[in-house]
Amino acid sequence: MPAHDVLIIGAGLAGQRAALAAAQAGATVAVLSKVHPVRSHSVAAAGGINAAIAVEDDWRSHAYDTVKGSDFLGDQDAIEVMCAEAPAEVLHLEHIGVTFHRDETGRLDLRAFGGASINRTAYVADITGQAILHVLYEQLLRFGDRIDRYEEWFTTSLIVDDGGCAGVVARDVRSGAMEVFAAKSVILACGGAGQCFKPTTNGLICTGDGMALAYRAGAPLMDMEMVQYHPTTLVENGFLITEGARGEGAHLLNADGERFMERYAPSKRELASRDVVSRAEQTEIDEGRGVGPDGRGIYLDITVVPRRRTLEALREIVNIGRDFAGVDITREPIVIRPGQHYVMGGVRTDVHGRTPLDGLYAAGEVACVSVHGGNRLGANSLLDTLIFGRRAGEHAAARAAGTRMPRVSRAPLHDDARRIEAILARPAGAGRRVSEIKEELGTTMNRHVAVFRDEGGLRTALDVVRRLREEAESAAVDDRGTVFNQDVLGAIELGCLLDCAEAMVVSALERRESRGAQFRTDFPRRDDAEWLKHITITRDGDGAPRIGYAPVTITRWEPEERRY
Ligand code: FUM
Repeated sequence: MPAHDVLIIGAGLAGQRAALAAAQAGATVAVLSKVHPVRSHSVAAAGGINAAIAVEDDWRSHAYDTVKGSDFLGDQDAIEVMCAEAPAEVLHLEHIGVTFHRDETGRLDLRAFGGASINRTAYVADITGQAILHVLYEQLLRFGDRIDRYEEWFTTSLIVDDGGCAGVVARDVRSGAMEVFAAKSVILACGGAGQCFKPTTNGLICTGDGMALAYRAGAPLMDMEMVQYHPTTLVENGFLITEGARGEGAHLLNADGERFMERYAPSKRELASRDVVSRAEQTEIDEGRGVGPDGRGIYLDITVVPRRRTLEALREIVNIGRDFAGVDITREPIVIRPGQHYVMGGVRTDVHGRTPLDGLYAAGEVACVSVHGGNRLGANSLLDTLIFGRRAGEHAAARAAGTRMPRVSRAPLHDDARRIEAILARPAGAGRRVSEIKEELGTTMNRHVAVFRDEGGLRTALDVVRRLREEAESAAVDDRGTVFNQDVLGAIELGCLLDCAEAMVVSALERRESRGAQFRTDFPRRDDAEWLKHITITRDGDGAPRIGYAPVTITRWEPEERRY
């Protein structure tokens, strides 16, 4: 049975950064990921990474912008850690080979991004995540003698023994073989749950596996009602058009050609925080001032950015506009709308990545520290993955140094193997297809758990999610083989999505106020007296979600009205 001091599930930026930190701290490390590491969803992160690097900037200003962006739900101790450590982390990336853009004087160039009071986003054109991911992967290979890689292995459950996490069960995607991995510390770094929604900017792999694994093992989820809609996604298919476009000066226009953000956020306009911009766009659309197919969109006008600059700094969205919308963004506006992009909630952790389950850590989008609170600022997500990935790796390595390797039974492997056999044995044609159930889940969530919500819609969504969970129990798969059987993995992922979706809807129903990304039309005001607290969701013995609360940590910034 493979055994490692630190076992990391997921090989995006959080996972790779955790692996490097743990290996440098002397631990034996393994990274296990359901896709090849450079295909992790971090590769899609576009516009950049925030850090108070400019001489006239200060990490406290970054922290305040983040607190304000979170609508005061973010935990300020964690936000201070993230922002204070950001400049060193970005410089470290530079030193290991990330080719951040430089200005004509040779200094790191910093672009504007939403909700920031100064330009503080370092970037590599609009492929920043991809650039960092590839450099970290090279580092992972460099430390190959200390870091084992299990690429294309799918984790089916966490092993909990003696009240703590002692390892995982996983399936080799290439062969279907199952294995138990023992570990002194396990770090979940397997991304978000965007596939609960359709459309979404998230890759097909973002199926909430880590959140569901932790939840089923007894760890609480937190802030799950806080789901971010990015203001600029392609109207037809939800592809991301980077916020970097607005950072470079692009305008948002309604059907009257009006730059409407001047009415909603007079000082920051297009560069207000994402929740504010998405709500403004949806209001324009709902009030009949939308453009494009059925008036469901808004114009993003990038033609105001000098063409040469667009071709240099926004080259990926030049390709996306051409290939997926038939639009040359340097010459004409492109039609966008708010689209699901990120889940602020996740597995509850402290600033070392520790979850309340002994031996289990989480970092990146799967986790909730909570540095994003009610709304994440653009370009704070890459930062979150790296800072808390590193911290989790360091802490997990230190913990492992003083811990014995747990003795792990193979019984959980047999349980999971039987579960998979049962999926494969479902009679063909007896139930709905996995893809149909997923489609209904995504469109339901996108209708009722989106930019604007109310009790009636949320109750409808909850009924649908619970019915789909029953239907998923008998969903048939076509592929009964062992080699690259994505069909059976899809059925397992669907169960994870349904757990995450239920937690999102239950939390959104519970929070009877509007804050950050949660706007309840039936409770349109922020209510600090009642709701300045996190909502947590724990799985009860009978599998039902149990609601709890956790205080918001306030260090320096008392809640105030948000204005942009
Ligand atoms: O728009 C973007 O480039 C996305 C960045 C982010 O979500 O941080």
